[in-house]
Amino acid sequence: MTDPKTLIDAATIARRIDALAEELSRSLPSEFVMVCILNGVFMFAADLVRALARRAIHPTMEFINLKSYGDGTESSGQVRVLGTLPEQLNGRAVLLVDDILDTGRTLHFARALVTGLGANPVRICVFLDKPSRRAVAMTADHVGFQIEDRFVVGYGLDHAKRWRGLPDLATID
Ligand code: IMP
Ligand code: MG
Repeated sequence: MTDPKTLIDAATIARRIDALAEELSRSLPSEFVMVCILNGVFMFAADLVRALARRAIHPTMEFINLKSYGDGTESSGQVRVLGTLPEQLNGRAVLLVDDILDTGRTLHFARALVTGLGANPVRICVFLDKPSRRAVAMTADHVGFQIEDRFVVGYGLDHAKRWRGLPDLATID
């Protein structure tokens, strides 16, 4: 495997996240819960919540750990919950946040999960969208970047647990 090649650099990511926070500030109620889907989302969620704070928006944060991948680059098609679920979503506005909308299975599962816990309304924000890969019907309300069907790492995303700390988003072959 070759070294990762930069696809979107850190400065471009930072600018886009600031614009995304502006977009969210116009379309969300003043109080909401960010439900972040671990693990890949950690860096995006950290930057997004700080961009919101700069606009005096302070959502509460919850994390859910969902897993749909093994160590390969293809989705296993199965989504599982690891660990505990947030308790106080009943009647609350939720922004589901994930690193990447790929086949759509993870967010489809997550939306049903938080809706089942009483969240309402539920909106979806993803750092990346790979629309060409969809296996189930799913769209995000807010998208950082649309990308082609390439496997990407960095900015929180991994391949076989590596590369999450890269400040840039990169492709690997
Ligand atoms: P989905 O359920 O197929 O939409 O996949 C969503 C999850 O798969 C993401 O939250 C990522 O964790 C993982 N994933 C999908 N594509 C990539 C990629 O290109 N790089 C790293 N992880 C990915
Ligand atoms: Mg993920």
